Amino acid sequence: MTQGGSPAVAGFTKASVRDADVGGKRVLLRSDLNVPLENAPDRTQSGGSGVMQVADDTRIKAALPTIELLRERGAKTVLVSHLGRPKDREPELSMRPVADRLAELLGSDVMSADAVVGEVPETASKEIGPGEILMLENSRYEPGETEDDPELAEKLAALGEIYVDDAFGAVHRAHATTHGVAERLPAYAGLLLEREITTLTSVLEDPARPLVVVLGGAKVADKLGVIERFLETADELLIGGAMCFGFFAAQGHGTGDSL
Ligand code: 3PG
Repeated sequence: MTQGGSPAVAGFTKASVRDADVGGKRVLLRSDLNVPLENAPDRTQSGGSGVMQVADDTRIKAALPTIELLRERGAKTVLVSHLGRPKDREPELSMRPVADRLAELLGSDVMSADAVVGEVPETASKEIGPGEILMLENSRYEPGETEDDPELAEKLAALGEIYVDDAFGAVHRAHATTHGVAERLPAYAGLLLEREITTLTSVLEDPARPLVVVLGGAKVADKLGVIERFLETADELLIGGAMCFGFFAAQGHGTGDSL
C-alpha cells in the first residue's frame, strides 16, 4: 500500500507520484500538452478570429489523473509543457488556450505565468495555495529547453520542491524540462507515464496473441526504434496516419503534397 491508500502498479519499479509526499509542497509537473490548436471562429463575421483554441483535447484529458491526484493531495502544482516547435516566442503557440481548456475540464481556475522561468513564475509559484495550479508558458519559448541547458534546468528547479514527469510523449527527449530538471529535484513518474510504461512493457514481454500493432501519427523518425522492436515480436504491424507516406515514398509510390 502506498501513500493515500492507492495501490502500487505491479511491475512498475520507478518512483511513482503515488508515493510522493506532495501535500503543501510546490510540485513541478511536466505533462505533454502538445495539442493541436485551431483558429477560433469569429462569430461576428466569417473566417477566423485570430484567437487560438484547442482543436483536440485528448492529451489534456490524459493528463488529468495526475493533475487531479496532486490537487486532491494539496500540492501546489506548477505545470509545464512544450507546444509545437516554435522558433521564437511565437504568440500562436502560447499555452493560454491549453490552460483555458484545462480549467474547463477541471471546473476550476488555472493561473497562467506568461513566462517559463524567472522572477514572475518564481513568485507566482510561491503564492499559489494547496490544490491550485499555475501553468507556465511554452517551454520551447526558452532556447535552452531543447539543448538541455543546465542554467535553464536550474531555474526550472527553483519553481518546485518535487518534480513529477507525466509527459509520456516527450520523455524520449533529453530536454531541460524532461531531463535536466529531473537531476536537480526529487523526481517521480506521473500516473500516465506509469500506465504507458506498464502497458508497453507487458505488450513487449508477454503479449496476448495474435499481437497486432497499430501505429499512426505524423512523425515517423522517432518511431523507427519502436517499429524495429515490434518487428521482432508482433504478428502484424499496421501503419497508418501521416507516417504511412514515408513508407509509400520509399516504395516508389507518389505521395503528392502529403506529409
Ligand atoms: C509529440 O507530439 O510527438 C510529442 O509531444 C513530442 O513532440 P516533439 O516531437 O516536438 O518533441
